[in-house]
Amino acid sequence: MSEKYMLETQDLGISFGGLKAVQGIDLKIRKNQLYGLIGPNGAGKTTIFNLITGVYTPTTGRFFLDGEDLTGKKQEVINHKGIARTFQNIRLFNNMTVVSNVMVGLHNQKEFACSPFASMLRLPVHFESETKMRDRAKELLSIFGLEDERNNLACNLPYGKQRKLEIARALATNPKLLLLDEPAAGMNPNETEELMNTVRFIRDKFDMTILLIEHDLKFVSGLCDEVTVLNFGTSLYHGEVEKALHDPEVVKAYIGK
Ligand SMILES: Nc1ncnc2c1ncn2[C@@H]1O[C@H](COP(=O)(O)OP(=O)(O)OP(=O)(O)O)[C@@H](O)[C@H]1O
Ligand SMILES: [Mg+2]
Repeated sequence: MSEKYMLETQDLGISFGGLKAVQGIDLKIRKNQLYGLIGPNGAGKTTIFNLITGVYTPTTGRFFLDGEDLTGKKQEVINHKGIARTFQNIRLFNNMTVVSNVMVGLHNQKEFACSPFASMLRLPVHFESETKMRDRAKELLSIFGLEDERNNLACNLPYGKQRKLEIARALATNPKLLLLDEPAAGMNPNETEELMNTVRFIRDKFDMTILLIEHDLKFVSGLCDEVTVLNFGTSLYHGEVEKALHDPEVVKAYIGK
């Protein structure tokens, strides 16, 4: 384990009954890197996200965030330590406003802390903390061009904007590592292009490390300098994106599906 890496996994794996959904995964993702996880349907990509966010406990192996072993920790602890994600199937609080969805992500942070006692009594500190949170949420929404939507219900946003809102909410938890599960799914080419610029902007502005799953290989090759290709739960290839796309085994895995 080395502190050079923001995320390191060693022999990470999980079985469901007899099925080895993921096995022997050794990822090494450098700080500030944009890293891609690709592979055909059912290859185990989302399962890796579920393992490193504490949804599942690994059957084998360990994983480290910025040198710290987080294997077996609970989801909230892992999020607090600095891993945030979006979901393949968007998960927002549909009946809450756009701005409230982002504020939910801000609640666990010291900067905006306010004791339940102060909130209950509606002391001035409660309103100060609320205002600070609202301002921060607006700032995050503006990165995604969503500030004018802030008072609308999340469920009324078009699909592409819901995907962006999910990223804004994940960023609100102030992560060191951001995991994006098919962020461009369902977006039109213009939205996809715009999202690529936004992802780069986030990496630069927040000094973020980003691991993303995406089927749109143009999106992956435009953003990531390194990829791991999964097939049947194992790593088929890892290295430069351009080379991956010409690797005979990788091509076979994709065509085989
Ligand atoms: N909780 C679970 N119980 C049983 N099997 C599971 C579970 N979660 C995932 N799997 C299986 O693990 C394998 C990998 O699934 P996963 O969702 O990680 O694939 P994926 O690469 O994200 O695919 P896609 O591109 O379609 O999203 C599949 O065979 C899936 O059915
Ligand atoms: Mg998936």
